[in-house]
Amino acid sequence: MTIRDYQPTDFGQVEALWKITGIYTAERGDTAGIILRCNALGGRLLVMEDPAQGEITATSWLTWDGRRVFMHHFAVHPSYQGKGYGKRMALESLAFARDKGCPLKLEVHRHNLPAVHLYQSLGFEIFEDYDIYMILDPGSALND
Ligand SMILES: CC(C)(COP(=O)(O)OP(=O)(O)OC[C@H]1O[C@@H](n2cnc3c(N)ncnc32)[C@H](O)[C@@H]1OP(=O)(O)O)[C@@H](O)C(=O)NCCC(=O)NCCS
Repeated sequence: MTIRDYQPTDFGQVEALWKITGIYTAERGDTAGIILRCNALGGRLLVMEDPAQGEITATSWLTWDGRRVFMHHFAVHPSYQGKGYGKRMALESLAFARDKGCPLKLEVHRHNLPAVHLYQSLGFEIFEDYDIYMILDPGSALND
């Protein structure tokens, strides 16, 4: 398995991987264009590829706002789970954040035990007292 940077021609396979692993919803708006925009701002979408099959087996999308690295869309294809590939992708993601000189943040559902186990085993700590807030349409709160 090799880990490399996303290329625009990967989008179909990457989107299929996100769908099969349950991390894709249309309202998240994760298009090929958004990936390029995040990467142009200093982020990186890592893909793991099985070179023999030409198949993308895992992703870790790292966005950077100049202060923190955020890890999104962290997934391993179901056929390849439980073989250590998630851990390899997480270590590569940690190396990216280290090289940026920034902490690495992520969100995970508390019942997603495989992911929680992996993150905690690597030293991620939970912010117990915090909830996540988001407004999907910021304009809806404005009176202009
Ligand atoms: C979370 C996910 C990426 C883990 O990938 P993976 O390749 O299966 O993980 P690994 O084989 O590298 O295992 C990493 C660690 O998690 C543990 N783990 C893996 N599957 C597990 C399970 N079902 N239950 C508990 N722990 C599990 C492993 O034991 C290993 O721990 P160890 O190093 O202490 O032995 C994968 O399950 C996945 O893609 N899930 C669907 C998408 C998702 O939920 N992503 C996270 C969004 S925040």
